[in-house]
Parts: sequence; structure tokens; C-alpha cells
Amino acid sequence: MAQYGYFDDTQREFVITRPDTPLPWLNMLGQDEFFGLCTQTAGGYSFWKDARLRRLTRYRYNNNPMDNDGRFLYVKQGKSVWNPGWKPVRAPLDAFECRHGLGYTRIKGRKGGVEVEQLIFVPPDENVELWRVTVRNASKSTQRLSLFSFVEFCFFEALNDMTNYQRTYSIGEVEVEGSAIYHKTEYRERRNHYTLFGCTRPVAGFDTSRDAFVGVHRGLHDPQAVLAGKCTNSHAYGWNPVGALQVDLALKPGKSETFAFVLAYVEQGDLPKFDAPFVMNKARGREILAKYSDIAVVDSAFSALKGRWQDLLSTYQATHVPNPHLQRTVNIWNQVQCMATFNLSRSTSGYETGIGRGMGYRDSNQDILGFVHMLPARARQRILDIASTQLSDGTCFHQYQPLTKKGNADVGGGFNDDPLWLILSTCAYIRETGDTGILGEPCGYADKPGSKDTLLHHIETSIAFTLRNRGPHGLPLIGHADWNDCLNLNCFSKEPNESFQVTGDIAGSKAESVMIAGLFLYAARELSSLYRFLGAPGDAARLDGHYADMLRTVEEKAWDGAWYTRAFDAESRPVGSRRCEEGKIFIESQGWCVMGGAGAGNGRAKKALMSVEKHLYTPQLGCALQWPPYSTYHLELGEVTSYPPGYKENAGVFTHNNTWIHIGWTLVGDGKRALEYYLSICPSAKKDHDVYRSEPYVYSQMTASQFSPTPGEGKNSWLTGTAAWSFVVGSQYILGIRPEFDGLRIDPCIPGTWKGFTVQRRFRGVMFTVTVTNPRRKSKGMKTLLVDGRRVEGNVVPLPTDGRTAVRVEAVLGA
Ligand code: BGC
Repeated sequence: MAQYGYFDDTQREFVITRPDTPLPWLNMLGQDEFFGLCTQTAGGYSFWKDARLRRLTRYRYNNNPMDNDGRFLYVKQGKSVWNPGWKPVRAPLDAFECRHGLGYTRIKGRKGGVEVEQLIFVPPDENVELWRVTVRNASKSTQRLSLFSFVEFCFFEALNDMTNYQRTYSIGEVEVEGSAIYHKTEYRERRNHYTLFGCTRPVAGFDTSRDAFVGVHRGLHDPQAVLAGKCTNSHAYGWNPVGALQVDLALKPGKSETFAFVLAYVEQGDLPKFDAPFVMNKARGREILAKYSDIAVVDSAFSALKGRWQDLLSTYQATHVPNPHLQRTVNIWNQVQCMATFNLSRSTSGYETGIGRGMGYRDSNQDILGFVHMLPARARQRILDIASTQLSDGTCFHQYQPLTKKGNADVGGGFNDDPLWLILSTCAYIRETGDTGILGEPCGYADKPGSKDTLLHHIETSIAFTLRNRGPHGLPLIGHADWNDCLNLNCFSKEPNESFQVTGDIAGSKAESVMIAGLFLYAARELSSLYRFLGAPGDAARLDGHYADMLRTVEEKAWDGAWYTRAFDAESRPVGSRRCEEGKIFIESQGWCVMGGAGAGNGRAKKALMSVEKHLYTPQLGCALQWPPYSTYHLELGEVTSYPPGYKENAGVFTHNNTWIHIGWTLVGDGKRALEYYLSICPSAKKDHDVYRSEPYVYSQMTASQFSPTPGEGKNSWLTGTAAWSFVVGSQYILGIRPEFDGLRIDPCIPGTWKGFTVQRRFRGVMFTVTVTNPRRKSKGMKTLLVDGRRVEGNVVPLPTDGRTAVRVEAVLGA
């Protein structure tokens, strides 16, 4: 990895030392409502809340060169033209460094004695993105130069913006005032918002027409205004509005100048829309620019961002962990990634275009598992929003738009795992906060919007849905798909223009999912212990009864001899069974059955995990999704058989489901394997980045497996359920600090060689400092537990009742 960069854990940064990484290495900016994607060369774009409906700047996906739009600074110094982030000009630099930090990216480039530093960030609770720019003369003579900034505005609705040119070439409008460009397309009609791009110091010129600044037959690598050394003060009228501002500087040796560019999303609210015909009211924009014209305000906004992250991460920090990859991942980058998946679900990344999918029902519920400890109040609202997209018969909209919070009708529902995930997110929230009040919150069903049904009603509806929708073996019906979106047992698609996900008649289908059965076991156990905590033993017993029935069904109908069958197809033939020619064993049913408690008393859990090891696992790669991969398309199985072997759901290493096996190993007490498997997919532990290619600091959705020609290649970084689940694995199951309804469980499962470690965990307002020691070199089990010096039986630390806000816990392993 040293050839591209390194971790600076003290600064909580990843430092990229050359710009030409194997793929663009992305960072995510923003933590509330204003977001940005930013690569090491300043590529990416910005949006407010919803990358489809409120996109502020343009980005062309799948471009070549890859990642070719962004927030660019050009330096024109004599004849030389260069970017501090290297792109788009790609002039060789004398020095380059990019530091991706928590919610910010700092890019520094030096050439011809001039250094330009661009710090890009979104301050907490503001709808602005700031670029703090410092230009330094590092040479011995005076340097005269022009700096040009550049963004290209998007007409807010991203799909229309990139498809409907017969309209969009005729709608663009801007206004310019001083050092500020106001992008106001469609403002005269129904929009009441605009984008501001301004500079906090006087500018020597501007351009707002792309044709004028770049030139029709040129590219961002040789924009004509920059080559000429002068903006043309163009006013876009239709075509493509851009924001280009020219700053002229003369710097004496050793001198520097610092100022900022501001990109803001502004809603007018109740303010008058216009000052005069065709002249918009710019009051708010002026205020924003004036505020940040004092660089001290920019600096304090950056300090606020740093403080915000310091606070967020302080909820869980481990020290003295013998494995540095685990410690770094749990403490820093995994939590950062959980923030991104919580905010963006699967909508917007280098691989998700922001127009395809909104928030996923199952995805967002799972994302909460890794996020709830940071900002429980936001998790609470999200749970209620998600629940409101469920229908009163229990089915759920599979996706919804973050801006409108309405289900996407084109995808619809019928993914039969969806309802159950709500139970996991709700229980995780209550374990974290103790706030059982959420269960009584009214949140209507999508088909009964005004209804006052409670969250608990939704949860019971979900349980009832699964119980009601079972097939010939008594296992849950799969519908369009379960967690594996590509296992489409009712699709039977012969037509290439159809969607595998929504084609096919699920009414009256017999196809069943063992994965959903395992998920049901897990959810039923969660709910039963919640009812017990609520003092409702009758309801708990009812859930226990459902649990026992489903467990019996799983053990009787789904055990295949050495592992759990994956599913039964529409003809009730097994999928993921030794009787199949291909796809004999799948990973999901092993993970979920074991997590649901199947195989616990009869040796099957261990046996199923050993089968995973034998058939699916490769050290340094992880576990493939199934084996053997499908070599031909199967009508009765759907999309899973469509990918080339070793990619995606056709036996790629789909990292998300690996995490369930990691938990499985801790449940059977194998701490050595749990860590080894954890590290097999951990990006920080990847050794060869020319092979792995993706970012070393965040998980990718998949790694090409041993069944592909490019084993070890990471794909689709950032937005994956792996983020939340890996945090659960690392923090709650390996290091073993796990919130319970009535206290904090200390239940590590670690390699027997470890001496111990320490975790600081803020839990319900109390800071627990947990020191784990392992004198007998065991993997699991508590010998003694001392809480502030007093012995406690079992392994759950109760919450203090005397108002203490700091508690010392000493846990000695080795039962
Ligand atoms: C989807 C998940 C799904 C997974 C496996 C992801 O792309 O967002 O909802 O569980 O693929 O198919």
C-alpha cells in the first residue's frame, strides 16, 4: 500500500501520496443534510438531502478518464497551467498530497515554487460547502499568478438534467453580483431555491457560460479561459451554466494568501422571491458570503466539524487491541462509513449514481445497527420514517426517496425479508437508549397515511406477515427476493429488458427462503426479550412459541447433511443443497440460521461453519457467496445466475454476508477464526493495492472471488451493509461490548493469544471504561467481572442507579 498512501491514525486521516490511484479514492463530505463526494483529485459533486432531486453540481458517471468533474482550482502561472489536485490538466506536480479526514478532504499541490492547498468540508448543521484555499509562494522570487475556480451547475433534478437536453439547453439562468454567482434555473417558475457559488475575496473576473470558459471543442483539461489567463465575464442564458471565478495574486517570497470559496444551497422560505422582475432576492446568499468572508469564521466552522467527529467517535474507542487493523477500523473508518451509509443508504457513491435507488428498506434498517450509538435521535426518526413506508398487510416499499419519504412505486414491494429488519433496527435503538417510548409512536402505514398505528403495531404486523406467508415446508415465502436481491425464484425472465427484481408473479408462489427463516428466528428472539424487558411475559411466551415452531421447521426441513439449504424454488426443489449441480452451498442460510440459534445444541452450527470454511473461504479474500458458481443462466433462479462466475451474487465475495459468518464464529466461541475471517475482508489489512484497487479505508460491496480471473479486486466501495455489520462484529462480538436492554454485556470472543484490551463506551450517558484481561489465554467466557471494584455475576454490567457518569469495569476472561 505504501506506493499510494498510508494511515495517519493520530490525525484520523488517510494520506494519499500520489494522485493516480488504481481507482478514484473517494471521501464523503457532510453529515446532516448537505453532502458531497470528493476524490483525491477533487472530483465529485454536491447535493442537498437527495442526490436525485436536489443535485447542485454536475458529475458524469462512467466517464473516461474516470472521475473527471469536480471542484477544481486551476493555476495559471506564466505559461504553465496546473491543478493542485493534478486533474483535470494532469500537469506533473513537484509535490502532491491528499488527506481524507472525517468529513473533509485536504489537497495540496506544488509546482513552480507555488503551493496551493484546498481544504474542502461541510460544516455541521449548515447547507454550505467551504473550500478554504491557501496559496503560498515557496520560492525566492515574487510570483504572479491567476487562480481559477470551477464547478458546473446541475439543474437540481439529476435525471432530467442528464437526459432531456431539448429542454435543458434552454432553461439555464444565473445572476452575478460581486464575487458571487447565483445559479437560479427554474427559479422563476416552481423552485424556491438556488445555488450560490462565491469567493470571499474580490475577483478579477468570472464566467458562467461553459462554452465561454471551457470551449465547445475543448475539455476541462484545457479550458480556453484559463489558457488565455482571463475570464470573459460571460452570462449564461440557457446552455450550461458554470461557476468560474478568477483571482489574481502577486505573492512575495514566503508569503501566502488565504480565502474561501463557498458553495451553498439556499431555500427562500417565506422571503419574497424577487427584488424586481427577473432579479431574485439574494439576501440569504449575501449573508452567507459575508459570514464566511472572515476567514476566522471558516476556521471555526472547521473546528466545529472536528469537534463533532471527536464527539461522535468518543462513544466507542478501543485501545491496546493487539491487532492494529481491528483497532483502527473499529475506532475510525468503520464508524465514518456507518455515517455515510446511514445518510445515503445505497443512493450515491462512485458506483451509485444518486438517481437509481433512494433509501432501501432493508438496507436502511441494517444501517441503523452501526449508526445508532452515534446519534440515536436521528436513528429514531429514521426508524419511524422507514416504518411509514410499510403497508398495512405487512409488505414494504423496497425503496423510498429521502426528500419526499414516499415509497418508489416502480420497484414496489414483495421482498419478503423486508418487514423483519424493522425489528432489528428498533431493538438496536432500544438497547442503545432504553427509550421504549418509540414503540408507542404513531406512524401510519403507506396505504393508510393518516392512521395512528404505532411502531409496535408495525412490528407485530411484520411477524404476522412472515407467519402468514409460508410455503409447503412451513418456511417463509421468498417473494421477489430476500436479502439476496438476485435470488429471484419467481421471476422466470426470458426478456432482456425486464427487471429481475420486479418481474414475475409472486401471488400463489411456493418458493421459500431459509435465510428469512433464520432472520425470523433472530427477530423473534429479539422481540421476545424486548417483551420480557417491557414486563409482558405473555407476549414473550407467544414469541417463544413462534420461535420454537420455526426452529423445528428449520432443523427438520432445511438441514442438508453438512449445512443449511438456502431455499426451495417455485417447484419446491432445493437451492443450495448437495443435491444441486451448481450452487450447492450458500453463505446466507449458514449465517442466519446460526445467528438465529439453529444448530446450537446439536453440533450443526459448527458443522455449517466448517462447511463454509471448506467450500467458500479463502484467506485474504473472504467467503464467496456460494459454490460452485453458476455457469449457465437458470430461469428458475434469476439474476444470481446472470453474473460471470466470481462476481457479485454469483459466487463473488459479497462482503456484507461474510459478517454474519464472523458473528457465527463468535457464537461457537472460535475467536481465532472470528478475527482471521474479519481481517480477510478488512480493507485496512489488504496488502496489494494494485490488486485490490479500491479504497483501503472503507469496505467495498464485493471482492472478485477465487472463481473469477481477477481474485482480490474490490468493487463498489462505500455504500454497503458491510459497514454496519462489520462494526457490529468488531465492536460487539469480537471485542464483545454489546448493549442489552438492561445493561452493557461484556462478552469478547478473541484469539487465545491475546492478553487483553480496553474499550471506552459511552452508554446511556455513562462512560464505561472496560479493561479486559486474558491471563489464561482463553477465547471466550467470563471468569470475574468487577464493576467499580465490586463483583457482578454473569457478564452484564448494570446501569448505575446512583447518578454516576463514569464506571470502571474489569473483566477477566477464562470461565
Ligand atoms: C442491495 C441489498 C442486497 C444486496 C444483496 C445490495 O446491492 O442494496 O439490499 O441485500 O445487494 O443482493
